[in-house]
Amino acid sequence: MDLIDRRSKARLGGGEKRIEKQHAKGKMTARERIEMLLDEGSFEELDMFVTHRCVNFDMAKNKIPGDGVVTGHGTIDGRVVYVYAQDFTVFGGSLSETMAQKICKVMDMAMKVGAPIIGINDSGGARIQEGVTSLAGYAEIFERNILASGVVPQISAIFGPCAGGAVYSPALTDFVMMTEETSYMFITGPKVVKTVTGEDITVEDLGGADVHASKSGVSHFKVENEEEGLLLIRKLISYLPQNNLEEPPLMEIHDPVDRVDDELNNIVPDNPNYPYNIKDVIFTIADEGEFLEVHRNYAKNIVVGFCRMGGMSIGVVANQPNYLAGVLDCDASRKAARFVQMCDAFNIPILTLVDVPGFLPGSGQEYAGIIIHGAKLMFAYGEATVPKVTVTLRKSYGGAHDVMSCKQLRGDFNYAWPSAEIAVMGAKGAIEVLENRNISKIEDEKEREEFVAKRTEEYEKTFANPYQAASFGYIDDVIEPRNTRFRVIRAFQTLQTKKLANPPKKHSNIPL
Ligand code: HXC
Repeated sequence: MDLIDRRSKARLGGGEKRIEKQHAKGKMTARERIEMLLDEGSFEELDMFVTHRCVNFDMAKNKIPGDGVVTGHGTIDGRVVYVYAQDFTVFGGSLSETMAQKICKVMDMAMKVGAPIIGINDSGGARIQEGVTSLAGYAEIFERNILASGVVPQISAIFGPCAGGAVYSPALTDFVMMTEETSYMFITGPKVVKTVTGEDITVEDLGGADVHASKSGVSHFKVENEEEGLLLIRKLISYLPQNNLEEPPLMEIHDPVDRVDDELNNIVPDNPNYPYNIKDVIFTIADEGEFLEVHRNYAKNIVVGFCRMGGMSIGVVANQPNYLAGVLDCDASRKAARFVQMCDAFNIPILTLVDVPGFLPGSGQEYAGIIIHGAKLMFAYGEATVPKVTVTLRKSYGGAHDVMSCKQLRGDFNYAWPSAEIAVMGAKGAIEVLENRNISKIEDEKEREEFVAKRTEEYEKTFANPYQAASFGYIDDVIEPRNTRFRVIRAFQTLQTKKLANPPKKHSNIPL
């Protein structure tokens, strides 16, 4: 039958030879990727017979049905998603005018029905034979990415080249994922870099998965291969709502809500200068010990990601004492701010675990704009209207105390462990400022040390605890660490009907 022949031809994309080439690089074809991503048999392909309209460079003779992208919809765990996957076997997945139209069509459909959009990128960029219509096509996609932002979740997988202005579509979406060795993203490739700046650099060092997962923060997830990436997207989707008007799915759980864990009572070391791994706390209190970390390799001094608590999808933001003592710097502030904004946009309650010595001092940070980046995090928390529960485990000093979802930034429930130290600054620094004159008058070194130790102890007794903050009601309760799971879940449960709106405005002016 003609239809069957036509479909078979379209399904071959750029032909068997090019498919072999794609496989030889360790990459799947666009259709294989979609098959693996979606529930079995759920994919409905659209625009399979669309071809390009270019007549330059003899292109009229070279038309491939479907052109360089496979588009359609399907389901993940029974929930509808819209998908497009660039097909590298067709003109290197390069973007033509009609290809852009295909992508825009599924984006528009996703917005109409309120479903997530997943884009799989593997493309040589703008279709060179088409020129400016390709650029216009990109801009059509960018505008839709922008309008869809905060309305439906958008996820970008980079499974091959993504270069030039093409990088801006993924950059506008909520999550970017890259495969090790087979993907790269950059504004200009190594050759242009060499010409313009003289710098010699490889593709991998310029824009590989490692670079974007750890140095630039462009990529939220680095995966070893496409299979791992596609399964991770399925998992990620399970934490997200279909759109901004819906709640994330509530899962049935087998982990008792009132499970207590005695180990938590001993997790914070007696010496306040000793580190511990905050992820141990997250694993202990989360349902089934599961935590999907976002931006795992970037700004490790703060940890962000998703878990479930009592079946609810929860966004976790936690200082990491194991890395740079959990200090807040420019990168950590940007990372957490973006995550908080995303959670708020998609009705995901936020749990904040605080153990922060403060903002990182120094000219390096000041010149890099720590003021503006710290303000981003403050802004994101202060503007967020989703349920917010904060637990202070240990240090919570100075401006960092305010930033980390304090009561006055509309924190709903602010708890502290007995080991919490909530104060303007650490004891040693405070005594050096307050007693500077008296200290300098003591000539004998031993006497001086004893004086400082005594004053420091007094300060610690007065301030390095949660009770001063609790006496003002800034901390709602001091809780035993072992009960944290239970107390946090109960707090989120009572907040399920929370209603809070910000003043009407066109949009806020977050310090970007
Ligand atoms: C048309 C392209 C193409 C493109 C690749 N192909 N890129 N066709 N327009 N942009 C075709 C090739 O001709 C080839 O066709 C097939 O795709 C596979 O390409 P290869 O070069 O054989 O593959 P590989 O060796 O893996 O190299 C991949 C590549 C390289 C690194 C992506 O193809 C490349 O450098 N392409 C050009 C990249 C580029 O400069 N793009 C424009 C950037 S500017 P056959 O028929 O042989 O299979 C841009 C602006 C966007 O994108 C602005 C948005 C605002």
